[in-house]
Amino acid sequence: MKEFHLLINAEDVLGHINPEIYGHFSEHLGHCIYEGIYVGEDSKIPNIHGIRKDVVDALKAIRVPVLRWPGGCFADEYHWKDGIGKKSSRKKMINTNWGGLVEDNSFGTHEFMELCELIGCEPYITGNVGSGNVREMTEWIEYMTFDGISPMTELRRENGQNTPWKLKYFGIGNENWGGGGTMRAEYYADLYRQYQTFCKNYSGNELWKIACGPSANDYHWTEVMMQQLQKEHTKGIALHYYCVPDWNAKGSAAEFTEDEYYTLLSYANYMETLVTRHSEIMNRYDPEHTIGLVVDEWGCWYEVEPGTNPGFLYQQNTMRDAIVAALNLNIFNRHSKRVIMANIAQVVNVLQAVILTENEKMILTPTYHVFDLYKEHQGGDAVYCYHPNITLYDGTNDHNVPMLSSSASIKNDVMTITLANCSLHEEAELHGQIYGFHGTLGSARILTNEVHAHNTFDSPDTVHIEPYTVEYKDNHLHVSLPPCSVVEINLH
Ligand code: AHR
Repeated sequence: MKEFHLLINAEDVLGHINPEIYGHFSEHLGHCIYEGIYVGEDSKIPNIHGIRKDVVDALKAIRVPVLRWPGGCFADEYHWKDGIGKKSSRKKMINTNWGGLVEDNSFGTHEFMELCELIGCEPYITGNVGSGNVREMTEWIEYMTFDGISPMTELRRENGQNTPWKLKYFGIGNENWGGGGTMRAEYYADLYRQYQTFCKNYSGNELWKIACGPSANDYHWTEVMMQQLQKEHTKGIALHYYCVPDWNAKGSAAEFTEDEYYTLLSYANYMETLVTRHSEIMNRYDPEHTIGLVVDEWGCWYEVEPGTNPGFLYQQNTMRDAIVAALNLNIFNRHSKRVIMANIAQVVNVLQAVILTENEKMILTPTYHVFDLYKEHQGGDAVYCYHPNITLYDGTNDHNVPMLSSSASIKNDVMTITLANCSLHEEAELHGQIYGFHGTLGSARILTNEVHAHNTFDSPDTVHIEPYTVEYKDNHLHVSLPPCSVVEINLH
């Protein structure tokens, strides 16, 4: 057992936790959209206009604030006009990035907007820079948001949507340093300036334009974006980072050694270094925090499950993934002054999914339960939360694993504290002192299990949240965290 002294100062606000930090990502990839979200109106699976009810309900329960679509790599090959109008007339295309399958475009703009309405979240749409053009992008925005008379609004009305949708988040391309065009930062920066000029604010709609950002530790990319992009036309720069120790041997999602667990966690915790260093660059050019860091792809990426299509990126999700999610969300909370959005990849059936489906069955993964434990942070103010730490694994280049991960926030006089014990063997005993906040214990919940534990379609509830007992009196908090656990505490 290891003891920790925790200090929380409610008067020291670090930043506002935009709910969008708890965002998700959905791509036309494997069974994310088709089967995972959209089954078609004729399906026996309960649905609303083809959208799975069970998935919508599960996403509403964790208060998904924003959903990114249609990709990913797919976005830079997507031509939105192929995905509108009568379904039987929609063009079919090859999904070259993900398995070379036929994409029938039966899920398009209208279906995505309805999905967001059903979940009650903001849509975040990524436009095609890699293989599209300015006209295609500007017309899409006109189609979605303009309320007047124009060719695109006529088309939208013909397709059954009289009033425009509200669209706040719009990405100008995806990974344009790679699959989105293999561009140099300097070239993309100019393209961004050109494309964004034609992304207009129609009918009172205000777009938050988000530029393609760096891959992991490409600090040059961030530097160039901050030099070249105009602050008044850029709300965010999108960082992508997957925790993968070795891209040539990504390892199994559910079978791993203790060494592999700590190595992977050191890659997850590297997010702290990435966010800090990209923020340092952004701070030099933008001390007012006008431009946010948008981590719109993050999570674990393993080998696909045996027997599944390698292009579908379908993987299991264990308590190890829960710890990764807890670490990352605590990092985003603590950096919420700069990080304005984050989108875990991906929402259903792909990579570190919160939901897995098999025909009519649906399970919630350990990662889902972490989003449930953390949901009260959404819209709160992150406050100072400090404890000396113990390093469980000390790798090179800032790849290390702390035993304890934490963050705290306040919203409507409720303090939410989230803690994770990354150790697989030792309990963490926490003695907390809370300043600037007077309240009583509301509730506490825990997610814990053996690190390989996961939910399956035959055993969907192996990993689940349980109520937990902690002590809180006279501003003193006492919590015992079992090995491999995530805890949420509310003080009222
Ligand atoms: O999430 C899977 C893929 O990872 C996305 O399509 C792409 O943007 C990234 O490389």
